Amino acid sequence: MFSACSAVRVWGLMKPRILIVDDEVRMQRIFEINLSPKYEVLTCGDGKEALGIVRGRDIGLMLTDLKMPGMNGVDLLKEVRKDRPDLPVIIMTAYGTVESAVQAMKEGAADYILKPIKMDEMEVLIEKTLAVSRLREENRDLRQELKTIFGPENIIGHHPSMQKVIQLIQQVAGTKTTVLVKGESGTGKELVARAIHYESDRSSKPFVVINCAAIPSTLLESELFGYEKGAFTGATKTKKGRLELADRGTLFLDEIGEMPRELQVKILRVLEEQKFQRVGGTEDIGVDNRIIAATNKDLKQAVEAGAFREDLYYRLNVITIPIPPLRERREDIPLLVEHFLKKHREALKKNVYRASAEVLHLLVDYPWPGNVRELENAIVRALVLCPSDGIEVADLPEEIRFGKKEEEVKIPTDKQELKRIKKQAQQKIKEEIEKKFIEDALTQEKGNVLRAAARVSMDRRQFQNLIKKYGISKKEFENG
Ligand SMILES: Nc1ncnc2c1ncn2[C@@H]1O[C@H](COP(=O)(O)OP(=O)(O)OP(=O)(O)O)[C@@H](O)[C@H]1O
Ligand SMILES: [Mg+2]
Repeated sequence: MFSACSAVRVWGLMKPRILIVDDEVRMQRIFEINLSPKYEVLTCGDGKEALGIVRGRDIGLMLTDLKMPGMNGVDLLKEVRKDRPDLPVIIMTAYGTVESAVQAMKEGAADYILKPIKMDEMEVLIEKTLAVSRLREENRDLRQELKTIFGPENIIGHHPSMQKVIQLIQQVAGTKTTVLVKGESGTGKELVARAIHYESDRSSKPFVVINCAAIPSTLLESELFGYEKGAFTGATKTKKGRLELADRGTLFLDEIGEMPRELQVKILRVLEEQKFQRVGGTEDIGVDNRIIAATNKDLKQAVEAGAFREDLYYRLNVITIPIPPLRERREDIPLLVEHFLKKHREALKKNVYRASAEVLHLLVDYPWPGNVRELENAIVRALVLCPSDGIEVADLPEEIRFGKKEEEVKIPTDKQELKRIKKQAQQKIKEEIEKKFIEDALTQEKGNVLRAAARVSMDRRQFQNLIKKYGISKKEFENG
């Protein structure tokens, strides 16, 4: 069902629909005359009738008198809330009843306006209220979109180990338990953490990330816990840390294995007491966070080596979600390829819908040290380079194309295959020669592209394209 606000957004020209509830017919007419040019105005004289209209029509805003025979404005508001929790309601009130108007605000009225009503003020208030309502709606839509982008249905994996991961996400999402996500780099740890958040009842609150390895340890504490004004030089005002920003939401502590020991004890306190102090502060601040931590290190080993606190390790280790490396679930590779083609082809404006069988073979055989992230990058790169509607071997990065050892080259079993393999071998040799040719020119000219291109009588742009194609780093040649 469209609300009037969404109707305005979708069809631009449609006027927002406003319901006026006032027992004085004269007032109804005045509103009608003044507001009709900008809004579609419906009027009625009592709360019961108003409820019927709210239930049956898409109203974008309701304006109601406070004192009316039968159901008064506050009672009407309470009833309306049951069906339309987000409908903006403005209460009209006389001086003597301002207190009731304040009561109405507590019940969720958007605002109130004093009688006698000045129409220009009324219009400003209506516009402001509709604008806030539109923003709320947009915000809700965006969150819904985030939910579809980050929900568990976007985690691709048929392998039993990935099915187990998805099952665990669903099991823990409804709880507040701390979760530790373990996996090599690029296996999808953050993806899993987000899926837990967007699947939980915290999904309308923030998901806040802090990467303990990316922030220098000296700054990590104030990033995490915030600081009080004057806590250190430069702390000119109080600042909230990410822990507070994630209040009622989820805090994702990425690469927790890199967290300095003195902060580990503070995080332990947050986990145990939901309390902390800002840097330079003396007061305890309470927070309600769901904490998800991730690591690509063996934390148990770190505990044994004395780098990670044992008590924190056990506190984090309540529920662990291990994500296996991609090489241990190769059957998921074709599915992931399809997923990434779909995910990126539109943004890259490419009509590429498939990868050739040979490409899939190569991708399934490759060891993927950078896991799913490396695969995603390879697909994005191939999409960019691909001149046709299907990805071919030539569009893959060199390490994947030449990843196989020579003796692993397949022996053709029929004429068709012989032709294909010969073509592939020719292509490979051609590319190897081309790459060496470019590298040699760059060596001679110490990485200067312009001179290197001129040296081999090549157009500079063409030369640049080849550097890009073979992923050659000019820097390596700069010092001879
Ligand atoms: N199973 C999967 N299905 C779909 N996309 C995936 C999957 N696993 C990972 N990805 C994608 O791969 C990329 C890397 O994932 P993510 O950032 O979650 O990995 P990570 O384990 O946190 O990596 P790092 O250790 O490097 O931080 C992201 O773009 C993510 O969407
Ligand atoms: Mg990550």
